[in-house]
Amino acid sequence: MRAWEIHGMMQKSNFLIRRAGAQNAADIARIEKLCFSSPWSEASVISTMENQDSAFFVAEVDGQTVGYIGSYFVLDEGNITNVAVMPEFRRKGIARGLIEALKECAEEKELSFLTLEVRASNPARLLYEKMGFSEVGVRKNYYSNPVEDAVLMTLFFERNR
Ligand code: COA
Repeated sequence: MRAWEIHGMMQKSNFLIRRAGAQNAADIARIEKLCFSSPWSEASVISTMENQDSAFFVAEVDGQTVGYIGSYFVLDEGNITNVAVMPEFRRKGIARGLIEALKECAEEKELSFLTLEVRASNPARLLYEKMGFSEVGVRKNYYSNPVEDAVLMTLFFERNR
């Protein structure tokens, strides 16, 4: 196990954030179904984990997977695929913990930035702003079901400024 996988673990009050693998893909797909209108399937999660340089983390409460973050890397860029927390576990700092774990991993990999797309109407934009992301662009009508613009948000790591 590489060092940054160990540093990616953290205990925060009543939840645990840890590095995920293919054995977590079914739980991740279950959370996707609960949280998104066009969810990723278990097979797409496994395919991203196996075919790309990627990092996924899950959040557990009493052994139950209640949230996750997915990402893949291209050269020095980190792309966040999704962040999701089950409805009954929201506003407890779990998404913040997941993003912190990924930030730590990205810094150890010496990435230049982390980037993501979010629906224009999604209040998750506030979460990302709080975590240091800023808006860098808009993709018109990027999403379907329903059709909506995507806002591009990026977190640049300090050493590159
Ligand atoms: N409205 C306003 N601010 C919000 C928010 C919301 N719905 N969710 C998070 N925040 C902000 C708040 O400032 C919050 O701090 P506070 O609770 O002390 O006010 C801070 O972010 C940290 O939130 P946290 O508790 O870590 O987030 P969470 O665990 O509830 O998860 C999401 C946030 C977005 C992941 C969760 O609501 C979710 O799964 N939504 C559906 C899936 C989704 O849209 N994911 C994003 C795709 S890009």
